[in-house]
Amino acid sequence: MDRTSQVSYSVPQRVLHWATAALVLFNLLLPDGMEEWSHAMKKLGSATADQIASANIHAYVGIGILVLVALRLILRATRGVPPASTEEPAIFQLAAKVAHFGLYALLIGMPLTGIGAYYFGNGTAGDIHADVLKVVLWVLLAGHVGGALVHQFYWKTNVLRRMTAG
Ligand code: HEM
Ligand code: HEM
Repeated sequence: MDRTSQVSYSVPQRVLHWATAALVLFNLLLPDGMEEWSHAMKKLGSATADQIASANIHAYVGIGILVLVALRLILRATRGVPPASTEEPAIFQLAAKVAHFGLYALLIGMPLTGIGAYYFGNGTAGDIHADVLKVVLWVLLAGHVGGALVHQFYWKTNVLRRMTAG
């Protein structure tokens, strides 16, 4: 398909977007198992089998996110994305671009710093993961979802359709 005539994200792009969103929200809202493992390691230098098992869920979900994001970026590079809607002020088009770039950067940065902390025992990576990137991700997500809703209901650009029914 000609990149410029494509009006919606392709079905694989849409499926990947919502699968990534579900996994990211899971890890953001339910990191308790990983946190328990981390506290046990810092306090006692060891963790129970149960703590390791629930920490592994967080780790595998996060690694899954990294794989899905790699697929998304490959699709983006080969199939392109629909052109940005031009019905709203240029500054908001730019904001959406910056937010999307930032989200991709964080969806790579979060798993990589997590891997550094979990598999390589790097405390600095753990601090960046849990104290810095987590907060930036929440801020970007709030902007992303808020922005999508403003596009949809204020500028009435039907942006949600591009990522849902198509
Ligand atoms: C953890 C949750 C989420 C993440 C990580 C995420 C990430 C992203 C990224 C990186 C893009 C850019 C796609 C590209 O052009 O390559 C995007 C697009 C989009 N997202 Fe999300 N998203 C999330 C949740 C949501 C939610 C809850 C909504 C609904 C309100 C939403 C609505 C959209 C829409 C409508 C687009 C297409 C924007 C356009 O057409 O330019 N996203 N998302
Ligand atoms: C996009 C993917 C990921 C998200 C959204 C995420 C999210 C989170 C959150 C919200 C916390 C709790 C931070 C706090 O408030 O203390 C956390 C902690 C942690 N995560 Fe992740 N995580 C992801 C991927 C990973 C991966 C792939 C690994 C390891 C393979 C990992 C390892 C850890 C570790 C070790 C901690 C504890 C850090 C500490 O307390 O110092 N994470 N993560």
